[in-house]
Amino acid sequence: MAELKNDRYLRALLKQPVDMTPVWMMRQAGRYLPEYKATRAQAGDFMSLCKNHELACEVTLQPLRRYELDAAILFSDILTVPDAMGLGLYFEAGEGPRFERPTDTIDAIKKLAVPDPEDELGYVMKAVSTIRRELNGQVPLIGFSGSPWTLATYMVEGGSSKTFEKIKKMAYAEPAALHMLLDKLADSVTLYLNAQVANGAQSLMIFDSWGGALSHTAYREFSLRYMQKIVDGLTRFADGRQVPVTLFTKGGGLWLEAMAETGCDALGLDWTVDIADARRRVGHKVALQGNMDPSMLYAPIPRIEEEVSQILAGYGEGSGHVFNLGHGIHQHVDPEHAGAFIKAVHAQSKQYHK
Ligand code: CP3
Repeated sequence: MAELKNDRYLRALLKQPVDMTPVWMMRQAGRYLPEYKATRAQAGDFMSLCKNHELACEVTLQPLRRYELDAAILFSDILTVPDAMGLGLYFEAGEGPRFERPTDTIDAIKKLAVPDPEDELGYVMKAVSTIRRELNGQVPLIGFSGSPWTLATYMVEGGSSKTFEKIKKMAYAEPAALHMLLDKLADSVTLYLNAQVANGAQSLMIFDSWGGALSHTAYREFSLRYMQKIVDGLTRFADGRQVPVTLFTKGGGLWLEAMAETGCDALGLDWTVDIADARRRVGHKVALQGNMDPSMLYAPIPRIEEEVSQILAGYGEGSGHVFNLGHGIHQHVDPEHAGAFIKAVHAQSKQYHK
């Protein structure tokens, strides 16, 4: 396997010294890039793009050709796992993801099997190994999954939701059913992430996009507990290096201490959190990733640069910060603004790493 030429991202996650703050963007391969839209059109639709390892590799590399990013992220989706469990994932134009067969009853949950990552999810593994080979050591490759709670919201609701009515009803009225689902998902995700590492992923991230919809106590019971189970079961060393694990609960700013206790290496922060405060609270335990509001990329470039400078100053001196957006980049962002953002992080951060 090719030697890693730029390991700033892996080093920062382990709080080892770096020359400047590494940066990547959540959803960096996506619709804000015209070349992504062209490749997706070539594939036909989004899931066909995910299932074609050559095209999935192509779109993973597209943002790296434009920008000096410090990491690549596997092009796939968190919903491949429920799809592999037999729910029938499809995307309705303008409506986001949907499942043909939601699992909103205990009988449906009982029938679910844990998918074999090398079989039902073999196309993802093929994408991982292809991307790792094509990266040729340029930057590390991030593998990822959704958290059990976040995956369960889509599986029980049948798609995206604003109110989480069905799953919250299940959580409070039929908790045993939901725990059975979350437990199967934790096992599925652990196997899936370990298979990504076996196929070449060098770092792992768990997206808990909807953990913030839970109450203080329900977050621990229905989301954090299952992320803990996953962290406990992950391969943490491969290819002669540590494989850092990052947990990201959107809206989880109040729970950083509890998240840091899981034994993960880093926490992703959304833009509601003051990164200086987060560092004081958990910076002795974990690295931090984030946290510019993705909508800031709509601002004029000098305003973006000012925001970058404030976040860098907020984190302060030394390693342990991976710059990122607080959530995914929006599809109508001007790619030039994304480029100015990445340049600003590198140029302005050298002073914090002397
Ligand atoms: O970051 C990357 O470049 C890697 C690819 C990636 C995608 N989805 C591609 C994608 C990653 C890491 C994800 C994760 C994902 N998917 C999450 C967690 C992160 C988050 O945003 O909170 C979630 C909740 C999903 C579920 C999902 N997939 C939704 C809600 C949608 C529709 C979104 C929309 O804007 O329409 C998707 C589809 C999806 N996944 C797209 C991409 C690039 C857009 C699909 C398209 O090309 O039409």
